[in-house]
Amino acid sequence: MQTGSTPQNDRTGDSALGELGAQARGASGGLLPEIWMQDGAKRVEQVLARLLRAEHEAELMAAMRYATLHGGKRTRALLCLAAGGLADTPAHMLDDVGAAVEMMHACTLVHDDLPAMDDDVLRRGLPTVHVKFGEATAILVGDALQAHAFLTLASLDAPGDNRIALVRELAQAVSAEGAAGGQAMDLSLVGKHVELDKIVEMHRMKSGALVRASVRMGALCAIAEDAAHAALYCALDHYSACFGLALQVIDDILDVTADTATLGKTPGKDAAAQKPTCASIMGLQAARQFALDLLRDAREAIAPLGPRAERLAQLLQRANAYLFKHAPCA
Ligand code: IPE
Ligand code: IPE
Ligand code: MG
Ligand code: MG
Ligand code: MG
Repeated sequence: MQTGSTPQNDRTGDSALGELGAQARGASGGLLPEIWMQDGAKRVEQVLARLLRAEHEAELMAAMRYATLHGGKRTRALLCLAAGGLADTPAHMLDDVGAAVEMMHACTLVHDDLPAMDDDVLRRGLPTVHVKFGEATAILVGDALQAHAFLTLASLDAPGDNRIALVRELAQAVSAEGAAGGQAMDLSLVGKHVELDKIVEMHRMKSGALVRASVRMGALCAIAEDAAHAALYCALDHYSACFGLALQVIDDILDVTADTATLGKTPGKDAAAQKPTCASIMGLQAARQFALDLLRDAREAIAPLGPRAERLAQLLQRANAYLFKHAPCA
């Protein structure tokens, strides 16, 4: 497989930003959050564009590019890059792993939008894949994106054990114990009154599992999961469990509070479809506080990792700011 766009000896992917000089750096000397996030997302998108290039422009590949390349906050890829930054991980490897995670995420979104699932017509500000290309193509886009995600990991320029560990992480995240199981639970709970514990379990599976995998995969690129690193993986798991749940709680809240332009999706869909969510069960203000508490817990979980976890903390701040902006306190 071709490697990513950054030089192989660039351990962070930041060297190309050198020309921006001091303006790109904060007081601690690290790149400003908006700079590394924009740059990281751009690099991962370049990898996606390269990996999803058809020799001949088949409609299926065009639909895969449509599903993958147009927008999205790239949270999962950035989590992967940030976790990879805990060690001396080659940037080109992280960019490829981040692209694999984003392909898998796009697969879950395309299937989530299908008429048999949430029946959504808008995603990332554009008509959903089944609206634009037809339902059969949308199903195949999900299938193929999933396959390409695994192909990307299997083809990494890394030792076999490492590649197997990454493939296993991603497979587990979308298995019956992960996103697929969580989505099944989501559909089974339509119109039902359920306890918060059940919603939390569903959220941890349907979206939390892939967030956890994104963090773990970034770390696994260069840090062995052995006894010497048990505390680090434990901290990362606590961080990602809180962050993954917070992201879905925020998504539930914004479905109620935000408009189409902000969401790039149709607002009010959860209530219209009688989906029990954190917002519907707890009420907006309590759900908002729940999300804020989870983001704080995630921050505390990585505190022992020190300054090398700065980028993981900055992603929490980004989510916090997003919540404040689009779901202000009543
Ligand atoms: C949407 O995820 C689906 C959820 C799991 C909440 P994002 O809000 O991260 O979607 P994009 O990638 O930014 O479009
Ligand atoms: C879906 O949750 C999470 C996935 C596994 C894709 P939602 O159904 O709430 O996601 P949106 O609101 O459509 O993005
Ligand atoms: Mg859904
Ligand atoms: Mg949905
Ligand atoms: Mg939603």
